[in-house]
Amino acid sequence: MKVKKAVIPAAGYGTRFLPVTKAIPKEMLPIVDTPTIEYIVREALESGIKDILIIVSSNKNAIVDHFDRNFELEHMLKEKNKLDELEKITSVTNECNIFFVRQKEQLGLGHAVLCAKEFVGNEPFALLLGDDLYVGEEKPALKQLLEAYDKVETSVVGTLYVDDWDVSKYGICSLKDFRRLPLLELDSLIEKPALEDAPSNLAIGGRYILTPKIFELLETQKRGAGNEIQLTDSINRLLEYEKVYSYEISGRRYDIGSVYGFVDATLDFALKREDIRDRISDLIYKKRG
Ligand code: UTP
Repeated sequence: MKVKKAVIPAAGYGTRFLPVTKAIPKEMLPIVDTPTIEYIVREALESGIKDILIIVSSNKNAIVDHFDRNFELEHMLKEKNKLDELEKITSVTNECNIFFVRQKEQLGLGHAVLCAKEFVGNEPFALLLGDDLYVGEEKPALKQLLEAYDKVETSVVGTLYVDDWDVSKYGICSLKDFRRLPLLELDSLIEKPALEDAPSNLAIGGRYILTPKIFELLETQKRGAGNEIQLTDSINRLLEYEKVYSYEISGRRYDIGSVYGFVDATLDFALKREDIRDRISDLIYKKRG
């Protein structure tokens, strides 16, 4: 069955990025001049998915406003013939159908995904975490995953290869095959293992294609690490019913939920922008003294 819907959870507290995230959703942090979540919505669009559900919480209204129309602003831009600016605020919303649902209590990523059950129905769906930004090498990260899904027609977890010192920060894949191929059958997922216990260096990286069976498992999922309902725990249970694959995404990932990842993305994106690239690189050069 074709994947036609995408879900973006964006309801988390963002405690790693306080104080800014007290009132501003981390998913709205701008990378140069565009909110992180807009890049993620574009990734879904560029991968061929137009129906997108964003999971928000009560203090994330800025996300809803960002994807809403602002008729006053549009009118003003038209009057002043600022058509490039008009295009900037209308292009994404004109191209896709964005829906919202509220996660009433922040009980964890697994609980956030469960909030998408009605929207998704009985179909496979794409899941893109709202604070994970990808720059795919040749294709968008989600497109790579969708192509992998077309081959195996079951759940696929997007992964990235991490260095030894980073293994204990991620959910790590234990695989049924020891070759380094992009698409491999998963044996289990191990949450934040010590390096000596890690079965591989392949970490879960914020992109998934999941079958609807996951909802049934999330409904009965007990709280796990951090006393939260963990998606990883339900994927491990999913493995008892269906095959799940890991797919190593080719491209660069930025964790915008961390200060380092945000600054890293800001610099890389600024250095790719023709209009500011030279001045930014001069600035960095001067600052290094
Ligand atoms: P994180 O694991 O980064 O959690 O969520 P967090 O609570 O937002 O941030 P920290 O760790 O306190 O800094 C990954 C994605 O899942 C969403 C987040 O908004 C983020 O996009 N999420 C997380 C939810 O939608 N609901 C939750 O209950 C937890």
